[in-house]
Amino acid sequence: MRGRFITLEGPEGSGKSTQAAKLCERLGEQGIEVVKTREPGGTATGELIREILQHDRAGEPLFPESEALLFAASRAQLVRSVILPALEGGAWVVCDRFADSTTAYQGYGRGFSVDDMLNINSFAVDGAQPDVTLLLDVDVALGFDRIQKRNTENGVENDRFEREAREFHERVRQGYLALAKRFPDRFRVIDASRDEGSVQCRVWETVCRALGMEAG
Ligand SMILES: Nc1ncnc2c1ncn2[C@@H]1O[C@H](COP(=O)(O)OP(=O)(O)OP(=O)(O)O)[C@@H](O)[C@H]1O
Ligand SMILES: [Mg+2]
Repeated sequence: MRGRFITLEGPEGSGKSTQAAKLCERLGEQGIEVVKTREPGGTATGELIREILQHDRAGEPLFPESEALLFAASRAQLVRSVILPALEGGAWVVCDRFADSTTAYQGYGRGFSVDDMLNINSFAVDGAQPDVTLLLDVDVALGFDRIQKRNTENGVENDRFEREAREFHERVRQGYLALAKRFPDRFRVIDASRDEGSVQCRVWETVCRALGMEAG
């Protein structure tokens, strides 16, 4: 049987990576084989692209058009080399960000046509549509407080997106909420401003309900 495909989306610092890890643990405890991956990245090519996109590895300003297409390139590689083979082999896939990030960040955030971004996504993903997308929604300022704390603790600088203006991130947040309204069958919005354990419970209940599993 084909596996299920779950994506986590949301603004900076909403807790996607934290919750992706917890969700995979929980699925594993149910005896489900699960592949955890992330975007951009998840493949050798994708991780190199991630260095360019997040950490200015190429050392030159990126045009927004190039940025949009690099995300799509990383995604195209990930879908074909990791996601589709895993799903076809019966494993579940949990992906920390996916195509909706492009629509939210490059569409709503940068101001490209949302329909153009949806078209680029559909070219990249080859029909790999998530069964459920968890939108971890958080106030931009709260997300940034968490990121500052995390980056200070880890001794790392803010990345290219974390250095963008608050207004950019506010458009991204509102863009995600607009996408959740536009695709209500796939999206579930979760209030990610609560403590980690509460969000984790909501994530689990939501996944169980969306995918018709017993919430054990
Ligand atoms: N519900 C929560 N309440 C408080 N802090 C949290 C919560 N969830 C995660 N954190 C902490 O906030 C920071 C950001 O979380 P995390 O890295 O999971 O977010 P993210 O959405 O993956 O961020 P990014 O957009 O940078 O990838 C981490 O230090 C994490 O430990
Ligand atoms: Mg993360």
